[in-house]
Amino acid sequence: MGLFISMEGPDGSGKTLQMDLLEKKLREEGYDIIRSREPGGTPVGEAIRSILLEPSFTGMDAVTEALLFAAARRQHVMEKIRPALAEGKIVLLDRYIDSSLVYQGIGRELGMDYVQMINDPAIDGLLPDVTFLVYVDYEEGLRRKRLQSGHTMDRLEEEEEDFHRMINKGYYSLAERDPKRVILIDGARSPEEVAGEIWQKMQEYLEKL
Ligand code: TYD
Repeated sequence: MGLFISMEGPDGSGKTLQMDLLEKKLREEGYDIIRSREPGGTPVGEAIRSILLEPSFTGMDAVTEALLFAAARRQHVMEKIRPALAEGKIVLLDRYIDSSLVYQGIGRELGMDYVQMINDPAIDGLLPDVTFLVYVDYEEGLRRKRLQSGHTMDRLEEEEEDFHRMINKGYYSLAERDPKRVILIDGARSPEEVAGEIWQKMQEYLEKL
């Protein structure tokens, strides 16, 4: 029931703009949708988010971090995502378990299997029907981020270069790990071209609604 779409991508991939464009298009076409983001999406989740992104918490242990992301996710699934899907809505989600697999599993070197295990109780068997992975390579992502004037870096964005290079590689391997669900979208094109491809791929899923 319903349709669960998640959007993923490394920092600077243009993921958020693509979320905006897809949300707008779905609303224009009259679909009943809710948009949300991780970490966050519920009052409990937003409180956890502020802990996770707090720049002064430089000493946060990697497992603590992974557990906090998973805790926020569990609350999100139970309080918001499952109920919306049960009502037949489209759920459009900015980041989900794949972000943890990549940022904590690869970036923090906890391993994808370990992070999957931590997340099993969080997702409670719920995976997106489709995940759009908007991909740009590391240099392009960084260049775009720096161009955004007035953007202050959060704790995760301030990680050093190697971390972000690993994130980019990790994202790429996600599409290989689960090619049926994760659709790789080349983000190094104009926003209109990227949105056009996403919308074209969406048709298959909308038909099943
Ligand atoms: P946010 O400001 O939402 O970033 P973006 O606009 O790039 O989505 O910050 C979320 C940050 O948290 C981002 O750097 C990715 C990271 N993250 C994880 O490390 N693990 C996770 O499970 C999730 C959901 C996000």
